[in-house]
Amino acid sequence: MTQTTAESAARKQRAQIRVRTLRTDRWWLAPAFTFAGLLLFLIYGFWAIFDKSYFVDPYIAPFSSPCLATSCPEGARLFGLAPFGDWYTLPPGILILGLPGGFRLTCYYYRKAYYRSFWLSPPACAVAEPHGKYTGETRLPLILQNIHRYFFYLAIVIGLILTYDAVLALVHKPAGLGSWILLVNAALILCYTFGCHSCRHITAGRLTHFSRHPLRYKAWTLVSKLNARHQQFAWASLFSVMIADLYVRLVAMGVINFPFA
Ligand code: FES
Repeated sequence: MTQTTAESAARKQRAQIRVRTLRTDRWWLAPAFTFAGLLLFLIYGFWAIFDKSYFVDPYIAPFSSPCLATSCPEGARLFGLAPFGDWYTLPPGILILGLPGGFRLTCYYYRKAYYRSFWLSPPACAVAEPHGKYTGETRLPLILQNIHRYFFYLAIVIGLILTYDAVLALVHKPAGLGSWILLVNAALILCYTFGCHSCRHITAGRLTHFSRHPLRYKAWTLVSKLNARHQQFAWASLFSVMIADLYVRLVAMGVINFPFA
């Protein structure tokens, strides 16, 4: 081997660093906060799904909406319908859990968040991961993350139903504080949903001439603005849905009972 070949082979190798990282900042702070935030959401969601105080006229808790079984109280059913009939006796939230859950689980931003905070793969930039091998999302089960775009369509339906719930509560006289909480939550969820990378691609991903598609260009511009804040909307809507859900349940339980609650 000539000296030049040996040098170029050495250059191709990864730098041999014995410590896990050379970073001296508090790089672990972001994954630690992310871990705590997502864990809180999982624990709350698990409790909420099985809690029975999900409806108090005119509010329905977002974790249990849409309510599609006969076991749902009359006013809680979406358009008064119960397509799942009598045979379904489990909590109504379980029926629809997979739609928003699948959407968030496969979201590009959340993937980064939980790969870093839960799997430490890697925990932060320039910090070595504990796993010896990296296969990315090229094989099962992670290749299934590609179904995200289909969850996007279903998530639009859920976002619109939550908006409908909020508007229904708002037109109820007198409109209580809960109506506004539900409305803010629905708005944040729609901002998160329409800021999805798949939505951006759908609006104008394959266009080569924006000038020939002014409407799609306008839509793409708007979606791009939401997309630039996707991480912020991901967190804001995660907390807003927990707050709105808890608020409705506390009103239903009688814990919150001030006038115009
Ligand atoms: Fe986050 Fe689609 S990329 S919701």
